[in-house]
Amino acid sequence: MRQQIAAANWKMNLTAGKASALLTGILSDVKEVQVAGRVVFAVPFPYLTNAVATVQCREGFSIGAQNCSNKPSGAYTGEVSVEMLDSIGVQYCVVGHSERREYFAESNQMLAEKVDLCLAQNLTPIFCCGEPLEIREKENQNNYVRAQIEDSLNHLSETELKRIVIAYEPIWAIGTGRTATTEQAQQMHAFIRSVLTTNWGASAANAVSILYGGSVKAANANELFACPDVDGGLVGGASLVAAEFVQIINALKH
Ligand code: PGA
Repeated sequence: MRQQIAAANWKMNLTAGKASALLTGILSDVKEVQVAGRVVFAVPFPYLTNAVATVQCREGFSIGAQNCSNKPSGAYTGEVSVEMLDSIGVQYCVVGHSERREYFAESNQMLAEKVDLCLAQNLTPIFCCGEPLEIREKENQNNYVRAQIEDSLNHLSETELKRIVIAYEPIWAIGTGRTATTEQAQQMHAFIRSVLTTNWGASAANAVSILYGGSVKAANANELFACPDVDGGLVGGASLVAAEFVQIINALKH
């Protein structure tokens, strides 16, 4: 079975004290044996070092960044490089979240550069894709998502592709409380896997974890994660509430 992943995306939330209390609270509520796959916390940059130290001795838990620079190093004030992330023990990096694409004008080309830098630094990119509402209403979501994947990932070899995680997040479901139905999620995940099969072959397609994101919560995680092509979730709002996220972790397929 592909690795099942519950990834928390804290976005720009929480002050240091609250962040550290949330993380320790979740860790103490989740017993070692309950972690079927991997749990990733994508926390704000200032909290990464502490978060890495906190999860260090816990099997199955990793820390991720929410973004990285598309440049390796140098005169880019305010940016954070993959080398810096790796040097403090960060293992994952969210790449191309729809909020970054929309508010920070991140292009498919920039995302391709970020994915390459992550892979070269041994960080696992969690590559996000997903369509806005107007595309879904025109039923053009498959073409839209295929283009996002092909434009940023097509240059990868089969071995490289196997090292990435994909998160499908329909923009109309992010932070809106409106979740994709299990049918919509399964359909799109199966479609994404078919795109991977066409471009990289079945073995690569079957190795890549595809997470669903968009208003995942304790109440719908079991249903969503039970879909055969859904390998876990990327969770925003509900990952800020310990009890919610613990249940989401426990909903991963065993
Ligand atoms: P949400 O966010 O769970 O609050 O909808 C998901 C995400 O943006 O990663």
